[in-house]
Amino acid sequence: MSEPRPHARNRDRPALAIRGLTVDFKRRGGDLRAVDQVSLDVWPKEIVGVIGESGSGKTMTALSAMRLLPYGARVSGTIELGGRDILSLDEAGMRGLRGDRIVLIPQDALQALNPTMPVGRQVGEPYEFHRKLSWRRAADKVIDLLRAVKIADPEVRAREYPHQFSGGMQQRAMIATGLALDPELIIADEPTTALDVTVQARILKLLREIRDQRGSAIMFITHELGIVAELCDWVYVMNGGRVVEDGPVARIFGAPRADYTRMLLAATPSIHKRKERPR
Ligand SMILES: Nc1ncnc2c1ncn2[C@@H]1O[C@H](COP(=O)(O)OP(=O)(O)O)[C@@H](O)[C@H]1O
Ligand SMILES: [Mg+2]
Repeated sequence: MSEPRPHARNRDRPALAIRGLTVDFKRRGGDLRAVDQVSLDVWPKEIVGVIGESGSGKTMTALSAMRLLPYGARVSGTIELGGRDILSLDEAGMRGLRGDRIVLIPQDALQALNPTMPVGRQVGEPYEFHRKLSWRRAADKVIDLLRAVKIADPEVRAREYPHQFSGGMQQRAMIATGLALDPELIIADEPTTALDVTVQARILKLLREIRDQRGSAIMFITHELGIVAELCDWVYVMNGGRVVEDGPVARIFGAPRADYTRMLLAATPSIHKRKERPR
């Protein structure tokens, strides 16, 4: 029943371990269960895909791990980040982890960036906030980060504002911010949905490089199955707040076990062609 998981070999513990996560929202006429008994691991250096239709609980699972759930959400279960139980941390403790050990790359980079602050300043914020570096000392590192995410003319670009960047560059700037302190875990929630296909491909290549070169674990949330087939090592399929199955990417696409997964794949006919691309 249990399938070999290459990234779990020779590792002490997952970068992220979620057990029995349940998220409820109070509602008139009965609670809404957004996430229902979800258990999920992301191992060091592993890229884990989380797929499922809109409303299946992917974002609420991600926000639980960041402790950034909307007001009114009630959470139970356990979430460990590198062995640390994060649901019992106070807000100050959690702020110490966010942007340092665990980072979120959201769907809409422009909305996440501050329009009134030069991009470089924002990319360097983790150095100032978490490492108490002066801006002058952070500035050199910012240039390196912008270069790492393939932004040309980083010295010039660092002084520009988010609206002067294209959508793909805004997203890469967000990724640069996330990389500043070499996080154990990067959670990317539909990070390429708003981008065109060429730009999307560049971002995916970048995430793969980040994993290969820096060793970060990546949880990649998307409803686009083609991306998962190309990018991910292991896949969780969610429906109605639950994980319906998980497994190695080739098996999930080649021999899905859950009816829901079969239905999802049938709705995306081009998938089989894409997964044959060499990795
Ligand atoms: N602030 C909120 N209050 C109440 N329900 C919410 C809130 N945010 C999300 N939900 C509900 O939680 C469920 C899961 O949403 P979400 O995790 O965003 O799905 P996905 O990311 O898979 O599209 C949905 O039914 C959604 O309506
Ligand atoms: Mg979502």
